[in-house]
Amino acid sequence: MTTFARDQEGQATLGGTRLSTLLEQARVPTPAYVYDLSGIERAATELKRAFGTRRHLIAYAMKANGAGSILRTLRDAGTGVCLVSGGEMKVALGAGMLPNRMVISGVAKGDWEIDLAISQGLYAIQVESLEELARIDARARAAGRPARVGLRINPSVQIDSHSHIATGHDAAKFGIPRADVSSAFERIDASEWLVSVGVSAHVGSQLPTPKAYLESASAVCEIARQRLQSGGTLEYMNFGGGFGIDYGPTAAEAPASFAEAAVRLAADHGLDALELVVEPGRSLVGPYGVLVASVRQTKEGAARRWMMIDAGMNDLIRPALYGAVHRIEPLERLPGAKEWRVVGPICESSDDFGTHAIGEAPERVVLRDAGAYGFVMASEYNGRALASEVFSKNGAVIHTSPSPGVDFWVERRLKA
Ligand code: LLP
Repeated sequence: MTTFARDQEGQATLGGTRLSTLLEQARVPTPAYVYDLSGIERAATELKRAFGTRRHLIAYAMKANGAGSILRTLRDAGTGVCLVSGGEMKVALGAGMLPNRMVISGVAKGDWEIDLAISQGLYAIQVESLEELARIDARARAAGRPARVGLRINPSVQIDSHSHIATGHDAAKFGIPRADVSSAFERIDASEWLVSVGVSAHVGSQLPTPKAYLESASAVCEIARQRLQSGGTLEYMNFGGGFGIDYGPTAAEAPASFAEAAVRLAADHGLDALELVVEPGRSLVGPYGVLVASVRQTKEGAARRWMMIDAGMNDLIRPALYGAVHRIEPLERLPGAKEWRVVGPICESSDDFGTHAIGEAPERVVLRDAGAYGFVMASEYNGRALASEVFSKNGAVIHTSPSPGVDFWVERRLKA
């Protein structure tokens, strides 16, 4: 499901409006990220619907895109958030997300981040090691306020995804190994400052089907069942995020089928009394954002045709970092057969978006499915300003976050 389409004249549209019109309304230069908030809202509503009457929490993994406009949209659609830093927590709180709808993960949380999570009364601090459990215990004792903790377990599951985004296997730094789970519960139960509230796992990202997700979720269910059978307390189980999206050649199963499978699995394990938490990031935002770039020039050699655009790996690092492919098409007409190797202005060979059938060189191109892990992973490498962001709703621009501009970068470097 995507909000990117073509109108009758072949112009690229997002959320039903021409991208060229949205950019005109926003008055920002390229490169610019453009998002369809209505699409994001719809994605959240559809996912919610898949849970039916089952008690659940969709904790949006805001690392995928933490823009205030997106957080406010998702808050209104009824989601909470999954955080990985104190900075994200401050943004989520500022956007009106409720602390009791927030969970925080991360293998190396800072003391200030643990303190903030405790003082705000987050739904859960998801603990990734026995050593971290001891730290949280000490911080809670010092604060004189109990900490609600969940155990993030390492389910020991291999997934079929890029190695950089697989997190649930034995060699990953994430999560508590299953062998240590009972000691972790003992540690919690022995402390008057730790409250045991949940068990979670996150097995990796861009999963094409629920298979590995369910494997990991089964491990979570087993641990939850043992915990309840032994008379321990628990409020939720969290199966994590990772629902894949359609970047082009092969479509992933819809997020709703992950949710439906999760609901069935929990029921099969007799765990309907526990709240069911999921942490999708990419699937709620990825298909609803694009990156628009201008073509600066072309270069035609004997062996290859290059197309140089004004967006680089500093704006969208996924192709350079993971070999990811984002479809690139002309903004104002349909793609043609002529192929180009599309590259950015950064002085690195990896600043390469791959080969795309675009046709005659257009003025502007659109890089599709860039709503997740796009702007949030951007840098100012090579002295480049961060891109602008444009937020549309019901087909019209409702907010623009302009680029800080190159002079902002120049000033800070001079002062450094
Ligand atoms: N929960 C935890 C604990 C996570 O670490 C992640 C993502 C998520 C949830 C959300 O996963 P999602 O639903 O978005 O797949 N930058 C990479 C993806 C890194 C994912 C990191 N963790 C990319 O661009 O593909």
